Amino acid sequence: MQKIKNVNEAEVAGKRVLVRVDFNVPMVTVDGVPQVAGDLRIRAALPTLELLHQNGAAQIIILAHLGRPGGKVDESMRLAPIEARLRELTTVPFVMHENLRFDSREEANDPAFAQELASLGDVYVNEAFADSHRAHASIVGVPKLLPNFAGLQFTLEVAKLSNALTPPQGAVAVIGGAKFETKLPLITKLLSLYAEVLLGGALGNDVIKARGLPFGASLISDKPVPTDLAINERLVVPTDAVFAEVDSNAERSGNVVDIRINESVIDIGPQTTAQWSEKIKKAPFVLWNGPLGMYERGYVDGTEGLAKTLAECGVPAVIGGGDTATAIEKFKFDPEKVFVSTGGGAMLQFLVDGTLPGIEALKTSAV
Ligand code: 3PG
Repeated sequence: MQKIKNVNEAEVAGKRVLVRVDFNVPMVTVDGVPQVAGDLRIRAALPTLELLHQNGAAQIIILAHLGRPGGKVDESMRLAPIEARLRELTTVPFVMHENLRFDSREEANDPAFAQELASLGDVYVNEAFADSHRAHASIVGVPKLLPNFAGLQFTLEVAKLSNALTPPQGAVAVIGGAKFETKLPLITKLLSLYAEVLLGGALGNDVIKARGLPFGASLISDKPVPTDLAINERLVVPTDAVFAEVDSNAERSGNVVDIRINESVIDIGPQTTAQWSEKIKKAPFVLWNGPLGMYERGYVDGTEGLAKTLAECGVPAVIGGGDTATAIEKFKFDPEKVFVSTGGGAMLQFLVDGTLPGIEALKTSAV
């Protein structure tokens, strides 16, 4: 097993370089034309592309996927709009391979597909941290066949998320989103490392229910929260929330215990936003993954309130989750203090396991 080599060390002059990126970005359709709606992941790959160009790469071939087309061509998931956005952002010449997931052999990690991809280049760079929890051909197959390197953002992701696994005493974690059962290993682990774990989104509802409090018509996981976890006082749930009435646009804020039977929690409330902001300001380090409200339906106040606090208070933080990054894109964070991870599922899996299939693949030597 070898040490992971950084793209800084790669000798690429005159060589064809395959760069696996994660450009699985939010898209919108404007006048029937698909367009990039959030380019964080595209911008994050630019330093690596620029480095390869400066160091004399003969050709840069970009490998990427978009969506889940299920192994066949889906016109709505072609990479042309993403390629267009990348050309707006950089003058580095590159060739873009079509959506890898149009071929079912990508997700099946088919060795023949890995071989086909590898034959396109002389050197492989993984700049797709956000897809490195997937043991797909372009993530784990190709690096076995070519000299392999980690991209600049990939290396930063591993370093910053490793730091989040050894937080200073008193650090605070904030976790939002849904599906408590899928986040159970993460929440259990974070409780062993962090002073407090603040639960927003639908995750908070599950603990509220497990504590015997009313939860109205809120989104709840199928599996109950284990009792030992539910009674842990360092697992903090909102004290107030924004409620929406089922089948109507009516909404109001109130104490969580006052939720009505026909209401569901759609965001943390203003009092909770203020309380959690105070906790964040006093913490030596903050880890945050997952929006705190239904941001896709416009309930962004809690998420934006916390993001504003983090942007202003200068507390070191790691923020991530694809949705979280999109939800807070308008805030300007000090890059010396706050790291915004490009990873969604990959960030969560790294925090639980301390590694990913795509990281392990870079520890193998090309034959
Ligand atoms: C992501 O957006 O988290 C990655 O690109 C992985 O996408 P997937 O969940 O469709 O595999």
